[in-house]
Amino acid sequence: MTAPAISIDLAGIRLSSPVLTASGCFGSGQEMSRFVDLTRLGAIVCKTVTLKPRRGIAPPRGAETPSGMLNAIGLQNPGVDAFIAKDLSWLDKRNVPAIASIGGQNVEEYVACAERLREAPALVAIELNLSCPNLEDRGFMFALSAERTAEVCAAVSEQAMVPVFAKLSPDVTDLVTIADAAVKAGADGLSLINTTLGMAIDTTTFRPKLSTGTGGLSGPAIRPIAVRCIWQVHQAMPHVPIIGMGGVASAADAVELILAGATAVAVGTANFYEPRATELVRLGIERFLETNGITRLDQIRGRVKVEG
Ligand SMILES: Cc1cc2nc3c(=O)[nH]c(=O)nc-3n(C[C@H](O)[C@H](O)[C@H](O)COP(=O)(O)O)c2cc1C
Repeated sequence: MTAPAISIDLAGIRLSSPVLTASGCFGSGQEMSRFVDLTRLGAIVCKTVTLKPRRGIAPPRGAETPSGMLNAIGLQNPGVDAFIAKDLSWLDKRNVPAIASIGGQNVEEYVACAERLREAPALVAIELNLSCPNLEDRGFMFALSAERTAEVCAAVSEQAMVPVFAKLSPDVTDLVTIADAAVKAGADGLSLINTTLGMAIDTTTFRPKLSTGTGGLSGPAIRPIAVRCIWQVHQAMPHVPIIGMGGVASAADAVELILAGATAVAVGTANFYEPRATELVRLGIERFLETNGITRLDQIRGRVKVEG
């Protein structure tokens, strides 16, 4: 039997592997290249950048919790221009496809970042981190509102030369309405899910474990939420490509997200405790396909059997 094909078509981009990195959990690949052959990744989804550099939030910015972690980094980054000059050029020289993640405090900032990225090297797509607080709306996250999500997606899609993915938050009552608004406004695909809001308290000091009080929960603890979100959105809009993420640490976890409807899978928190996680997931997917006699990964996308 010939080797099963794990290459994928993601909104018209051909990627050699369905395994990506989740934004903020792999930098832009330079530090991780000691552990991982970056050319074995489908693409690197880089840490979110903003128009101007940002210092992020005061420590403590991370806390371990059962089956996951809480973080509140506050979008620390060197700004989009430095990112293009240092990170995208570095990835370009090594032939590693990059997906830039951009954030902003208002729609204009997203658009300005997208403009800067128009001619950027290595770039195959843009991911919109819509979990940033929209300062013009008193800190309200874009991803909490269908209207605000649509505004950013429409404005950036008009500028971008590459497919645009809207990264949504699970912390909403009706995710499908927001996903639908993103796609109708011009997003070519969706990234599901960002972290979900959590809190941990130190029982000796009576203080929250994060300086901000609350923060984003990630890791295996949120995988069932990710599976549910991907499944709900895929059922409602089966043709929309989804990059699935949330607690993926093994090939079985990745296959679970694909059965729910994801086209590609991004590994986040697992990179912190297993730097080779992306490679192990890739090898495991190849083994899974071979063992089950499946010739192409896309044959199992969305194939969860809910009835019967
Ligand atoms: C330390 C840390 C930093 C993160 N930074 C970003 C970020 O800059 N932009 C973004 O869109 N998501 C960010 N995320 C969210 C991840 O990309 C991912 O959506 C989430 O962690 C769920 O996947 P996981 O459970 O595999 O980590 C961050 C997550 C962690 C743990």
